[in-house]
Amino acid sequence: MDRVNFGTTDMKISPMGVGTYYDFKWIAPAKVLGIKSGKDRKISAIRAALESGINFIDTAEIYQTEPLVMEAIKGVKRDELFLATKVFPLHYSYDGVIKSCKRSLRKLGTNYIDLYQLHMHAKPERVKEAIRAMEHLVDEGKVRNIGISNFNLEQTREAITFFKKHTLASTQMNFNIAHRNIENDLLPFCRENKISILAYYPLAHGVLTDSSVLGQEVMQEIEKNHGKKTITQIVLNWFISKYDFVHPIPRASNPDHVKENAGCMGWKMTPEEIEKLEKAAQSVRGPSWSGDNTN
Ligand SMILES: NC(=O)c1ccc[n+]([C@@H]2O[C@H](COP(=O)([O-])OP(=O)(O)OC[C@H]3O[C@@H](n4cnc5c(N)ncnc54)[C@H](OP(=O)(O)O)[C@@H]3O)[C@@H](O)[C@H]2O)c1
Repeated sequence: MDRVNFGTTDMKISPMGVGTYYDFKWIAPAKVLGIKSGKDRKISAIRAALESGINFIDTAEIYQTEPLVMEAIKGVKRDELFLATKVFPLHYSYDGVIKSCKRSLRKLGTNYIDLYQLHMHAKPERVKEAIRAMEHLVDEGKVRNIGISNFNLEQTREAITFFKKHTLASTQMNFNIAHRNIENDLLPFCRENKISILAYYPLAHGVLTDSSVLGQEVMQEIEKNHGKKTITQIVLNWFISKYDFVHPIPRASNPDHVKENAGCMGWKMTPEEIEKLEKAAQSVRGPSWSGDNTN
């Protein structure tokens, strides 16, 4: 099993995780009507991740997928898993976060969360109260690490000042080889301050699953040195080869895709290969580059 430490902790995670955000067509009927279409396939996809050596699962209270994670992890030793979830900004008050955490614990069927994240930025006083509650949850043993998501550099710097007892473990951002804005500011700051990064949209929402986008030359060179690799394995491996503190979290909804993507682990590209790949990806454009979506 390919394992690395999560940040400065001794907790062992697979270099890549899986995400469980699907879309609003899943969230709204699941939340309002309890209709969960395709539930079994989604659970199988999360199980496929576990069977492929991935022990790191990302969810959120808003996704309506915590119960699917609970189903998928049945029978797996809890200390072999790394479960990350998120609290939604609507609940950023001291009591709100405590309540949300209790609910997430129940829905996940566990008594602790490995990484509890603030899903999005909000007014500073609300973020401050939410972090105060999260620190209390760490003291109680219900949460192991605190993270944030969709905070820019300035907001991240400010959030850090709200920590009184513990430290910020991670942030989660829109990041992939064709959308590298955070490498200009947030990523160097995270490296310096030992903050891990969870990369969402690592496949550019599917754009980076088309083998023609990078061109034959670079694909063939990587194949020559590392054996047959698919485009998703290569673009996910890019994170792992380049950064030891960045973890891609492509979504798990199709078991075959999950098994394929797990093949991004266990090998590393050379700096020269990384450079060629980045050059090939320069012309790739995907949807919604203008703004970082927050789901
Ligand atoms: N913090 C936030 O605000 C935030 C925002 C967005 C997302 N996220 C997290 O990040 C995760 C990933 O985001 P995402 O799912 O939107 O984007 P993504 O992982 O970049 O792309 C997913 C798309 O790629 C396809 N795909 C995956 N593997 C493939 C393969 N091997 N071959 C062909 N197609 C493949 C998927 O299809 P299939 O589904 O059919 O496999 C899906 O259409 C979410 O699940 C969520 O946990 C967080």
